[in-house]
Amino acid sequence: MNLNNESLRLPPGPKGFFETYNHIKLLKKDLLEFYHKITDYGEIARFRFGNRVAYIITNPEHIRHVLVENNQNYTKSVLYKEVKHVVGNGLLTSEGDFWRRQRKLAQPSFHKQKIIGFAEMMVSENDKMLQEWESGKNPFDVSQEMMKLTFSVVGKTLFGSDISSFSDRVGESLYAGIEGAANRMKSIIKFPLSVPTPANIRFNRAISEMDKIVYSIIAEKKKNPPGGADLLSMLIDARDEETGEGMNELQLKDEIVTFMLAGHETTSTTLTWAFYLLSKYPEVAKKIRSEVIDVLGDRNPSLEDVSKLKYTTMVIEETMRLYPAIWVIQRNSIGWDEFGGYKIPPGTIVSMPQYIVHRDPLYWENPEGFDPERFSEERSKNRPKYSYFPFGGGPRTCIGNIFAMMEATIILSMAVRKFRLDLVPGFKVEKQALLTLRPKFGMMMHRVDQ
Ligand code: HEM
Repeated sequence: MNLNNESLRLPPGPKGFFETYNHIKLLKKDLLEFYHKITDYGEIARFRFGNRVAYIITNPEHIRHVLVENNQNYTKSVLYKEVKHVVGNGLLTSEGDFWRRQRKLAQPSFHKQKIIGFAEMMVSENDKMLQEWESGKNPFDVSQEMMKLTFSVVGKTLFGSDISSFSDRVGESLYAGIEGAANRMKSIIKFPLSVPTPANIRFNRAISEMDKIVYSIIAEKKKNPPGGADLLSMLIDARDEETGEGMNELQLKDEIVTFMLAGHETTSTTLTWAFYLLSKYPEVAKKIRSEVIDVLGDRNPSLEDVSKLKYTTMVIEETMRLYPAIWVIQRNSIGWDEFGGYKIPPGTIVSMPQYIVHRDPLYWENPEGFDPERFSEERSKNRPKYSYFPFGGGPRTCIGNIFAMMEATIILSMAVRKFRLDLVPGFKVEKQALLTLRPKFGMMMHRVDQ
């Protein structure tokens, strides 16, 4: 590409000191609002803060270009550098040949055939939780329950271990780690983590607590004979084709923390938002329950049932449209690129906010409304593919997407058959956009037998 600075036409965005300053203030105060405002400048908006330049893009064709067609020109961005302090160099954050090797190693654990075997475990963990609900506190925080449940599902399915007793400690540490990483990302001036500021001390303590737990899970597993079929055993047994060496403790730990985080928090927040939306839209709640009773009767769901629970699936899809657990994906350009009539210089952060694109009136009629049937085949067919990308796209697409959809369908269908969950009147529901889009104060709901 023959490019020079003179030919560089810049996309619209905040200009001058005050406009930029106001946007930086907003970015620190309310990230979602910042994204709303910045994307008002156009489908490609440019924002400079400190020595960084970000292009925020919302056109599905441009998103496809970055994630799929020209993906080799992009690496994961600054956001992931901060996340690396939490999850290390695991599958989510690694790059190049190392990432390719790790993805190949992990992939067999996510093949459809393998996931089929997980359905039973998902059902039995869920069943246990629902039985506990019967005599448990009421009202209660659904978000905490979902975190615990999805955490123990990851343990049982991917690690072949019962890690449920670590749930609270890991949850707290992960939360502190993610919050710390998100705050560091928004800061223009940040001290290295070795400088003992109160925030750094908190952050480092959380990470070391979590690492300790994960090392103990690995040590326990290593006591078993080799050849186990779960992901953790496969990672422990894996040998490099050329050197014959296995993964060292640090690599193993990084992968396990990655799967712990990526594998439970996203599905858990999706389910929490689904319960919230069902409580706001009783006609949808009625419809999903009637489908579940039609398909399952009194039985627990099997894998075949999951594909028959079509409306339930649409409820989950629509939940992820309005409340995408991963609400923004970012990349860093390596070389020059060009799309939408603009040239993108090397070193640019390219931000693709699902939260904004999923609510764009250009692609969604009544975008703020909760309307699961917009995901019917008929109504989906003319929509551009990347107007909806809750699991990302291209080679870095979510490895756990089928796992997540199956888990969410099983959990939601079994729960709505047994209980109706009503949001506690007056309870404040606020979105908190960290790495995932969480309900800031949890989700206090009242359980009513069905
Ligand atoms: C509703 C649930 C989930 C959502 C919305 C979600 C979303 C995503 C997204 C958007 C990405 C791509 C990030 C990027 O391109 O920068 C991703 C990657 C990833 N997800 Fe998920 N995810 C979910 C569930 C899961 C589950 C259940 C697992 C594991 C059991 C998992 C493991 C991963 C991993 C390891 C990656 C990194 C893949 C790579 O870069 O090769 N996710 N996820």
